[in-house]
Amino acid sequence: MALDRSGQAEAFDAIGDRYDEAFPHKDGQLTAGRWLAGALAPGSRVLDVGCGTGLPTARQLADAGHQVVGIDISPGMLKLARHNIPAATFHLTDIVDLRAGGRYGPGGSRDLGEFDAVVAFFSLLMLPRPEIPYALRALRGLLRPGGLLALAMVEADIDDFAIPFLGNSVRVSGYLREELRRVVQDAGFEITGEDSHSYAPASTDVPPEIQLYLHCRRRV
Ligand SMILES: C[S@@+](CC[C@H](N)C(=O)[O-])C[C@H]1O[C@@H](n2cnc3c(N)ncnc32)[C@H](O)[C@@H]1O
Repeated sequence: MALDRSGQAEAFDAIGDRYDEAFPHKDGQLTAGRWLAGALAPGSRVLDVGCGTGLPTARQLADAGHQVVGIDISPGMLKLARHNIPAATFHLTDIVDLRAGGRYGPGGSRDLGEFDAVVAFFSLLMLPRPEIPYALRALRGLLRPGGLLALAMVEADIDDFAIPFLGNSVRVSGYLREELRRVVQDAGFEITGEDSHSYAPASTDVPPEIQLYLHCRRRV
């Protein structure tokens, strides 16, 4: 599969800390983060995939005493994340590099090791749809058996669709909730909980959205 990431990291580099201003009051995200933080044993290893600025999720997990590793393709977002959560570790890399044999995946030269949980809030939606099942399987491969996945997506029936986003253009994908559940289950997860929130960002160029949060467990 040929991967096209053109413009995606550059958009987030340009957006920088305006991202957190445009998306305030993240009640749904904070609730999902609380679920994950509380479901884990103290000091668990958690990977934050497409961590952005690290706010609020990486900070929430680190503050709860977990060992947080974040990855993102935007150097600008990672700079903010390193500043915001000095206790966590961050790596500049693409989700695709987390697959078995990928640089940061199992057996890779910079293998991140096994995790008790993975959180992917609004990051898999940055991939074209055909890549999303592979990405979910890659995340499954990083989890210990029974490990947890907290996933957030926006409910939308779109594939690699260009949208205006804080003065930039990004390409996003999504599913309606039935299909999202099926894609997640087919990738080897049991869905143990679900939540949805309608969310209106502060910025006028980002449309209101329905956010879907899935609580998942790696099937053994
Ligand atoms: C919508 S933001 C979400 C950030 C954060 N997870 C949150 O919930 O606030 C999406 C993030 O995914 C990152 N991203 C996009 N495509 C990626 C890829 N292929 N690999 C890793 N990160 C990616 C972007 O740079 C951005 O920081």
